[in-house]
Amino acid sequence: MRVPGDKSISHRYAMLGAIAEGPTEIHFYSAGADCQSTLDCLKRLGVKIERQENAVTIQGAGLGGLRASAENLYAGNSGSTMRMLAGILAAQHFRSVLTGDASLSKRPMKRVADPLMLMGARIKTAAGGLPPLEIEGGVLKPIRYELPVPSAQVKSAILLAGILAEGETEVVERTPTRDHTEIALEQMGADIARHQHTIAVRGRARLQGMKLYVPGDISSAAFFVAAGLMLPESNLVLQNVGLNPRRTAILDVLVPMGGRVKVINLEMLNGELIGDLHVESSQLRGGEIPAEAVPGLIDELPVLTVLGTQTEQGLAFRGAGELRVKESDRLAAVAENLRRMGAEVEEYPDGLRVAGRQTLHGAEIDPHGDHRIGMAFAIAGLCAQGTTLIKDSACVDISFPGFFDTLARVAG
Ligand code: S3P
Repeated sequence: MRVPGDKSISHRYAMLGAIAEGPTEIHFYSAGADCQSTLDCLKRLGVKIERQENAVTIQGAGLGGLRASAENLYAGNSGSTMRMLAGILAAQHFRSVLTGDASLSKRPMKRVADPLMLMGARIKTAAGGLPPLEIEGGVLKPIRYELPVPSAQVKSAILLAGILAEGETEVVERTPTRDHTEIALEQMGADIARHQHTIAVRGRARLQGMKLYVPGDISSAAFFVAAGLMLPESNLVLQNVGLNPRRTAILDVLVPMGGRVKVINLEMLNGELIGDLHVESSQLRGGEIPAEAVPGLIDELPVLTVLGTQTEQGLAFRGAGELRVKESDRLAAVAENLRRMGAEVEEYPDGLRVAGRQTLHGAEIDPHGDHRIGMAFAIAGLCAQGTTLIKDSACVDISFPGFFDTLARVAG
């Protein structure tokens, strides 16, 4: 089976294509609604975009070619769209307003507004640092900024603003986060250097539009990896999955626990590793996930927790307070829905603990509009006794339209 194109990479290729010169052709662009939100915002900024079935062609407007949008830029459910686009908009000579849906309107934006204001942008948020973001763009000055929270979105916003600023912008990240922006910038010809914890970009360097291929999203593959490990007699191959080492923490956790997941056919495409995953049924030991591993697993923790209930020793993790400010409060949503299925769960301010070898029973699940909760509990439903009903299941379309059909086909 295949999973949709990587959501993180799709956003970046679209945004960089928009400020590059010449056309950028993106193959296997994510089919998810979040990545469509990015395209919609870019179109409102005057970028010419054509979407065919599997590919997107973007006519690059160049570094200074975006135009003010008469209407608000609606980012839908997508934190990546709002935060990363803020970096580009901060450097434009016009005013923009970024809005989002009810979930995005509750998510913290001060983390991105603060560094962009240090660069000279004028940004207003609603009370408490929440959206909408009102950005009065202008000439930016470079900064050196150490990220207070590990966040690839914030890092990327600063790097994108840095590309448009005069001089050299540096971002310091003590905890490594996904580096797709850095890789894509390199591919498109930006002047970017990476040394230990520091990433430096030189502003005003022109980006060159190009042909790009998006690998399958490992965060979407994670649901099928979990299902394959958990169910008896599984033998599943997931093709063309993005295996950038900053995204494979899930394998680093599952393999030492006894998970039979093998990487095959590894190759490099546009600076990103891509390969196939071969998954077989496994008896997992479970255990504690160290806090240092958490930032690399942030999107996979809901399904890992579900899987934890089927391990020998159960699963626990701390240091994941960030999960409370994702598309839903994911710690609360996982705990609540696991309890609905009769599981024993302990919830901490920054983590969860589940006992192992638990029998789940079918229940009515409330995903709180969060795609990853909806999908994680579809996997829980596979190993539960009785029927599981996922309310508002269309929320999975944010990253994985067709998820339930694929699951039905693969899991039978
Ligand atoms: C993303 C970074 C992560 C992740 C999100 C996508 C990205 O968010 O949870 O799904 O594409 O950079 P943070 O940067 O807020 O940790």
